[in-house]
Amino acid sequence: MNDSNYTRKIRFVIEAYSPETESFVNSSRTIEATNLTTVLDAIIKVNETEKHKVAARYSCRMGICGSCAMVINGRPKLACETNIFKEQSNTITVGPMQGHPILKGLVTDFDDFFSHHKSVKPWIVREDPAEKYSVGKEFMQTDEQRDKFLPFAECIKCGLCVDACPVSNIKKDYKGPQALAQAYRYYADSKDQVGGSRLDYLDSMEGAWGCEFSGSCSKVCPKSVDPAFAIQLLKGEIAKRRLKEALGRKED
Ligand code: FES
Repeated sequence: MNDSNYTRKIRFVIEAYSPETESFVNSSRTIEATNLTTVLDAIIKVNETEKHKVAARYSCRMGICGSCAMVINGRPKLACETNIFKEQSNTITVGPMQGHPILKGLVTDFDDFFSHHKSVKPWIVREDPAEKYSVGKEFMQTDEQRDKFLPFAECIKCGLCVDACPVSNIKKDYKGPQALAQAYRYYADSKDQVGGSRLDYLDSMEGAWGCEFSGSCSKVCPKSVDPAFAIQLLKGEIAKRRLKEALGRKED
């Protein structure tokens, strides 16, 4: 194996947003990347060595906090999880996500994102709030009950799915794939006691029916949460509930 397997010269282009001029400023340089260099490493290096810094958000540097989401070579990705060699291109271009309001440099605003997230009550709701003071009370679940929600519980709120969603990009009141997947995650949890009312709230074009099933949210999710699937499951539950109501049966 020769050195080119471990180091390579890469053209690294940053398309940073300038709030002062309300436009994008492109800057390009050649960097030496190793087979371990991530896009976030390259951004940090630029900020350590160049006069003009670029605003970038990051924290854990290990794909957990969800802070470093951006567009890398045209695709929404986590910068800390994107190995430059694996991009298989001699040019890496980074820019801010376009499906969220852009603040500065590579940083986007998450206020709308978290307001959609919060609106679906992303927590377990119990009928008796005093339960939380009952020390020692256990809420048992079978493996089968746990498996219903566990695949959707890995969300790190990076916003990549919303950035990739064609509906979220044009319809700002649509709750979006992240919030809807989390709505299903709590709906499907046997510890939650307000399942039916969660469905009522999402039985709308701003909710589950707004999804056009492009599937792009699931393709970019770094945690394989599969929001597109969660939304289809939500639609199925809503349809079943509507049918029961139409037939005049009581919900079990
Ligand atoms: Fe935390 Fe990238 S810095 S996910």
